Amino acid sequence: MSIRKIQKEDLARCSEILEKAYSTEPYNEEFNEGMASLYVQQKYKCCFDNSFVVCDESDQVIGFAFVSISAWTDGLQAVIEEVCVDPLFQGKGLGKALILYIHDYLSSKKIKSIMLWAKNDKKLIDFYVSSGYQVADDFCVMFKEVK
Ligand SMILES: CC(C)(COP(=O)(O)OP(=O)(O)OC[C@H]1O[C@@H](n2cnc3c(N)ncnc32)[C@H](O)[C@@H]1OP(=O)(O)O)[C@@H](O)C(=O)NCCC(=O)NCCS
Repeated sequence: MSIRKIQKEDLARCSEILEKAYSTEPYNEEFNEGMASLYVQQKYKCCFDNSFVVCDESDQVIGFAFVSISAWTDGLQAVIEEVCVDPLFQGKGLGKALILYIHDYLSSKKIKSIMLWAKNDKKLIDFYVSSGYQVADDFCVMFKEVK
């Protein structure tokens, strides 16, 4: 397994992984034609400089993470916009390895804090808590449908 910066050539594979990963529990989401590809292209535009892929021994991309960095009151803050591992390779420590790699990378960039939003699913929350995240008690994610 290796981790490297994402490249434009990786996007087709990332889009495939995204579709597969979100088609299973706890999401069971289905992307309309072209939307997974559009999603990764849009994230790439804003995050390419700070985003990574995980590859297997034959250099096939099997996971990825998009990370954005922006200024905030006392310095820079990062948002993990997406992290995704191909379901065939989940549960083998790759997601954790990718997150820890990102932590080291962000620490080298003197980032003060990291935010992300996650589905309220116990396994997923445990995954982040075991990586040092806390559920914020003073923020929540809000949604509104637009008709
Ligand atoms: C979340 C995700 C990236 C985790 O990647 P992964 O490679 O499966 O995770 P790991 O194998 O590194 O597991 C890390 C820890 O979380 C636990 N864990 C992660 N996913 C789990 C699952 N589906 N079931 C049980 N435990 C799980 C592992 O047991 C492990 O715990 P440990 O550190 O105490 O051993 C992956 O499940 C995924 O792509 N999910 C779909 C997309 C998603 O939810 N992304 C996050 C959006 S916020």
